[in-house]
Formats: sequence, C-alpha cells, structure tokens
Amino acid sequence: MKSIDVRDKYIQFFERNGHTHIPSAGVVPENDPTTLFISSGMQPLLKYFLGEVHPSGTRIVNSQVCLRAHGFMDDLLEVGDNRHTSLFEMLGNWSFGDYFKKEQIPFFYNFLTKELGIDPHKLYISCFIGDSENSIPKDNEAVEIWKNLLTEDGIDCEVVEFENMEQADKEGNKGARICLYPSKKNWWSRNGVPSDMPEGDIGGPDTEVFFDFGFEHNTQYGEKCHPNCDCGKYLEIGNSVFTQYIKKNGKFEELPSKNVDFGGGLERMVAVLNNTDDVFETDLHQPIIKRLEALLGISYSDNKSLFRVISDHMKSSTFLGFYGVIPSNKQQGYVLRKFIRRSAIKIYLFNKELDFSNVLKQIPTAVYEIYKDVNPKYGFNVKEEMLTQISEIIFNEAESFKKILSNGLKQVEKADLSKVDGKFVFDLYQNQGFPFEVSYEIFKLRGVEISQKDFLAEFEKHRNISK
Ligand code: SER
Repeated sequence: MKSIDVRDKYIQFFERNGHTHIPSAGVVPENDPTTLFISSGMQPLLKYFLGEVHPSGTRIVNSQVCLRAHGFMDDLLEVGDNRHTSLFEMLGNWSFGDYFKKEQIPFFYNFLTKELGIDPHKLYISCFIGDSENSIPKDNEAVEIWKNLLTEDGIDCEVVEFENMEQADKEGNKGARICLYPSKKNWWSRNGVPSDMPEGDIGGPDTEVFFDFGFEHNTQYGEKCHPNCDCGKYLEIGNSVFTQYIKKNGKFEELPSKNVDFGGGLERMVAVLNNTDDVFETDLHQPIIKRLEALLGISYSDNKSLFRVISDHMKSSTFLGFYGVIPSNKQQGYVLRKFIRRSAIKIYLFNKELDFSNVLKQIPTAVYEIYKDVNPKYGFNVKEEMLTQISEIIFNEAESFKKILSNGLKQVEKADLSKVDGKFVFDLYQNQGFPFEVSYEIFKLRGVEISQKDFLAEFEKHRNISK
C-alpha cells in the first residue's frame, strides 16, 4: 500500500466520522519563539486545547509535517536505525471537548483493522497504570474499552502491569495483550510526566498501539520483551492522548471539557502495511534511496545506516527549504546547516573522491517525487518551482563546508587519539570552525565516541569566560 493511499484513507475515515480536515501547518512555528520546529500534530492547535473555540468545530483531522531536532544533537544522532527520522508526518485527529475514550479507541482500532486490514492479532496495547505520587488513578476506562473491542474480535485479553521499566525489561509481557506502564511511557503533556508539569499545564493518560513483527527478542535490550522494548519486535504506530487533567495547586483536577489528541506516524504505518520494519524501505524514502544508490554507486542493503542518515537529513533539508529556511549560524538555519554538513561528511568519509556538493544538490528533486501527487489540500508547501533554488542553497552550503573541512582535517589527522575528548573537539571548533557534528563522525570511525555533553560543557565554560 502506498503512502498516498494511507494518508487519504485516514483523512477520509475521520471525515466520514464527522471531522473537518485542516491543512498541515508549516514546520517552523508561527509566532512562537519558544520552539524551533513543529514536532507534533497538536502543537499548532495548542490554544484550542486550552479552551479557545476552533473555527472548524470540535472534531478535526489532518496530517502534520513534523520535524524533531531536539537537543544539540540528540534527535539527529538517533537517525540511522530502521524507524527514527527527524522529519515525519503525524496523522492526527482531535476532539476539543467532543468525543472521548469510548469513541477514540474504536475509531483508531477500526481504522487499523477494517480500513487498513491489519490483523488485530498483531496489535498490542499500552495503557496508563496511574501515578500514586500525584494521586492520578489507573486508566481503567481505556483498559475496559480495549478489552471489549478485542474480545469481540476473538482475541484473548490478558493484562499485565509494570510498576517500572526495570520490571518490564526483566519480566516481559509474556504474551499479554494489554500492558500497563507508568507515567514515563503512558502519560502525555508538553512538559513530560505529571511531576514535571508546571501549574496550569494540561495533560493526561495515553494509550498506544504497537505492531508485533513477530521477530525473536534481542536480549541486548533487556532480559525479556514487551511492547516498549527497543529490540524492534514491536513498533509503536499510534498514540491516543486523553487530555483530561489540569495541574492546579500541585494537584490534578479533571478538566471541564475533555480532549483527545491522537498522533500516528505515517511512515511507520506505511512500513507495517508493506510488511517491513524499515521506514526507509517505504515510498516515503525510496525515491531518495534509489537516487543515492545511483550517485554513490553502492546499494542500500549493504550500507543502511549511511543511506538512512543522508536520506533523512536531506529530506529535512529540502523541507526546510520549502518552508523558507536558509543555512545560518542560529536557530532553524543552524539546524539546516547541521543536516547538510552531517550528510556531506558521511559521503566524504565513505568516498573522498566523490564530490559531495554535487551529490547533495540532486536530492531535492527526489524528495519532490515523493510528494508531487499528494493532494494540495493537505497543505504541504512542496513546490516544483522552488527546487532549483533549494538545490543551489544546499550546493553552496556544501561548497563552503569543503573549506572548513580541508582546514580542520589536517588537525584531525594528526590528533593523538588517546587525547581526543570534548575539549579537543571544542578547540577545533573554536580555532578552525570545525563543527562538532563533523568531528563526531570522523572520530567515531576511528573508534572514539565524543560525548556531546563534554563538548557542550566546554562550550559553556568558554561562554562564561567571555562574559
Ligand atoms: N501529542 C501526542 C504525541 O506527540 C499525540 O499526538 O505523541
């Protein structure tokens, strides 16, 4: 099944169920200096969760393009496995004080099983176990709704409770269909777990759906397997957040009007539907991968991590271009710079003879291929007429990086590996403009993993001295 069909089916399913479709907001938030990027579907809708009336009503659906590049390098360094990407589409449906758990859980379950035809035996569920420290009860209501739904389809509904993640990793779910996890996994607010939420913040329990690929558990990730285990047997494909509490005077009170915030990764759903656990094998990445195979002269299957990072980072770079971001030394522009430099250095380290600027400038047209037939009503700012300019921006950025690279490389090559640490890499940055993300890749290849924490500590030290 193609991504274009999955997206259409999702939007149409919720439209049939009384939702109004709204276009995706841009990846760069408007009038919100507190965050660089839109990283979840609910973010542009925040004010409606806080009580403002949405002009399109109380049931909304869309596919939001999201970009996650939190921390200095955290999210970027996660890219390279089969499922993490910095850019993704989050399919979302929302109820602003309209329907709640007993409608939302069947909506998503029916969408997966009836609309997309996923075998319900392959779905596993997580719900909220409660938070005694904050007197928030277990989400029994969600558990009961799931039990009824699954039992109707002839599926056994054992429930297992995990007080903490250590217990989950040690005991595993032993085949239980519904797993109850603590706040760390099954609570959602903009600020994390209940104890971290500031006064007046809203949040609530959530219930996630996981697809079981049926692989053997990999004990590197824990003694036993369970849906939130990272070994790859289970993949999370959707999260229904029940925004039902507000924090007041340190206590959690029920909101007068309860909301639903559902978010599901389109890339992951398409992967599941195509029987692969690798989002880079879906049509949301394949045109880029194919183009890279031709340009690099090697195959994806032998060089997965290399292809994944470049495909992801160049897709993000191209989208940032579509949304008017240009490389610079701060904010969104700096993130774009990091995406381009990380892609460039990966190519350089793979083959020093290749002209990486020339490779990178050819990727935006492959990104365009992926989106050219998407219904314009979804609101992605993907425009053919912008491609030449975006390619040029990427090419020029890569060219100026070449100069930085050749200056810094001399120092890097003669470095005594036993002395390479956060400070060394910071000095390289300070004196030669050699960026952390580049040193990181080069030294990793030579067996030294630089800690971004140590680098940032040096950075901070230097800033204080300058002050
Ligand atoms: N806000 C929730 C998330 O990001 C669901 O949309 O997972």
